[in-house]
Amino acid sequence: MSETIDLLNNRVSIRKFKSDPVAEDLVDRVLRAAFRAPTSSNIQSYSVITVQDPDTREKLAVLTGNQRHVVEAPVFLAFCADLTRIEHAMAQRGHTIVDNNMEIGLVSSIDASLVGMSAYLAAESVGLKGVMIGAVRNDASATARLLGLPAQVYCVFGMCLGWADEAPPQKPRMDFSSMVHYERHGALRDNRDLSQTLDDYDAALAGHYRSKGIATTPDSWGHDMDKKFDPQLRDNLRQELQERGFDFR
Ligand SMILES: Cc1cc2nc3c(=O)[nH]c(=O)nc-3n(C[C@H](O)[C@H](O)[C@H](O)COP(=O)(O)O)c2cc1C
Repeated sequence: MSETIDLLNNRVSIRKFKSDPVAEDLVDRVLRAAFRAPTSSNIQSYSVITVQDPDTREKLAVLTGNQRHVVEAPVFLAFCADLTRIEHAMAQRGHTIVDNNMEIGLVSSIDASLVGMSAYLAAESVGLKGVMIGAVRNDASATARLLGLPAQVYCVFGMCLGWADEAPPQKPRMDFSSMVHYERHGALRDNRDLSQTLDDYDAALAGHYRSKGIATTPDSWGHDMDKKFDPQLRDNLRQELQERGFDFR
C-alpha cells in the first residue's frame, strides 16, 4: 500500500547490532528529517544529544540497568525536552518560565517524543534499526550529569541505532478492534468482553516469549503490568524532574 505503512507493519525493536559505524552525515540527515515533525505552537522545545563515544555509552549502559545494546549500538540518541531556548527568549523580555505550569512540561515531552519517533522512522527508512531506551529515567539526575544537561532540560528517552545483527519475530499487539473506538470510548466494532480480550493477549504474548525461550507466566501481559506499576515505577522521578525545572505536580 505504501512504503511507510509496510515499514511500520514490519518493524520490531532491535537490540543486537553489527560493529559497523554509522556515518555522522547519515545521523544528521535522519535528525533533519525528524525535526520536521509537528511541534506544539512551534515551540520546538527539544534537543537531541548524539552519543558515539564508547566510554559515554558504557556509562549510559550502567545507568540504564546494564543494557548491553546501549554499548553495542554505534549510536545513542538522547531525546530531551529542552526549555532553555524559551527561557532565553522570555528572559530577554523580562520574564521567566520558572515555576510555570505543567502544560510546558507536558508539551515539551510530547515534542521530544514526536521527534524521537520521526527519527526512528527516518532511520528505518534508510536501513538503520534500533530500540528506544526509557531507562534513562531510572536516574534522571545521573543521566543529566553524564550528558551535561543544564537545568530546564531532561532526557525523555534514548534510542540505540545501528545496523541490525538479528531478525527477531514481532511482538504481538492487542486486538485491533479493542483499541479503536467509534465516536465514543467503549463503542467498539467488536464488543468483546475486556477480560476475554486481555486473556487472549496474555496467551499470545506468553506464546511469543516461550518461542524465544524467555520465562513468562500464563497471564504474561497482565502479570508484567501489575509487577511494573505496583509499587510505583521510578517514584523519585517527579522530584528529579522538578529539580530540573519541570513542574509535574
Ligand atoms: C518510550 C520507550 C521506552 C523504551 N525503553 C526501553 C528500554 O529501556 N529498553 C529496551 O530494551 N526496550 C525499551 N523499549 C522498547 C519496548 O520494550 C518495545 O517497543 C515493546 O516491548 C514492543 O516491542 P517492539 O518494539 O519490538 O514491537 C522502549 C520503548 C519505548 C516506546
